[in-house]
Amino acid sequence: MAEAKSLGVVGSGQMGSGIAQLGAMHGLHVWLLDTDPTALCRVNKSISSSLQRFVSKGQISQAACTEALGRLKYTSNIDELRSADFIVEAIVESEDVKKKLFIELDKITKSSAILASNTSSISITRLASATSRPCQVIGMHFMNPPPIMKLVEIVRGADTSDETFHATKALAERFHKTIICSQDYSGFIVNRILMPMINEAFFTLYTGVATKEDIDTGMKLGTNHPMGPLELADFIGLDVCLSIMKVLHAGLGDSKYAPCPLLVQYVDAGRVGRKCGIGVYDYRKGSEPIKASPRL
Ligand code: NAI
Repeated sequence: MAEAKSLGVVGSGQMGSGIAQLGAMHGLHVWLLDTDPTALCRVNKSISSSLQRFVSKGQISQAACTEALGRLKYTSNIDELRSADFIVEAIVESEDVKKKLFIELDKITKSSAILASNTSSISITRLASATSRPCQVIGMHFMNPPPIMKLVEIVRGADTSDETFHATKALAERFHKTIICSQDYSGFIVNRILMPMINEAFFTLYTGVATKEDIDTGMKLGTNHPMGPLELADFIGLDVCLSIMKVLHAGLGDSKYAPCPLLVQYVDAGRVGRKCGIGVYDYRKGSEPIKASPRL
């Protein structure tokens, strides 16, 4: 496949906005699609601020920032993605919702387009099987926040072709990312290991072993992690963490992956983490540490 010139990104939340920004910074013409118009209004501002931070750190010039912004377009109309060479999906972590989107993308995009999913854990093979082009469907799992984190985990579905893999690897390398490759099993590499740790941190809190602060401090200073597991869960989004645990539990069939009841309860209560102002910690008071950092 020739080098991609245009990128479609679906979902303008934490991940989609960062992926769209990366594309625009590296010379691609980007359409960023979201069904929620308020999300699209917010994202324009957040991408501009993020690019300005790159300028103030001397990592890109003001001209490069302006050019990147000029390559970005926002839409709620999926038809705008019809001429994209490469699409990355970053919508809600639900297999049913993602499958519906892949069916739609398969209908409207050109036959050569690659359809990639940023899913944290859902089977690429099953998403691919909803389309008429399973050999052009792949997992391209960015870490949060995508413009900063150096890793992209590439996941090949059962039918992903070598050509699709090489085009995806080339795109990730254009973004200056390091690649790891995973087989298509629940949670892939990073979340297969990370999420049970986060879930165990919730059990440690739930069973009264320690306070949230001591759990996080223990893991930061005791194991040299840049963020504690509960702080990290708030950063990822507790709804995303719960969805991944459910996929691990169902996909790997072991009770050790059962989500902690406290994690379930927080999500039921709408306490989904930093993106809504409250999760394990309460960010609305402005008293909690706000750090951009590793993971997923
Ligand atoms: P988010 O909740 O911040 O954003 C999701 C966005 O998708 C929302 O703006 C929503 O309006 C939009 N959306 C939902 N359904 C849609 C549809 N059918 N068409 C178009 N837009 C739609 O979610 P976030 O955190 O950005 O996660 C997105 C994906 O990335 C998930 O699959 C998640 O598992 C994965 N991921 C998340 C990471 C994280 O740290 N939050 C890290 C790596 C992957």
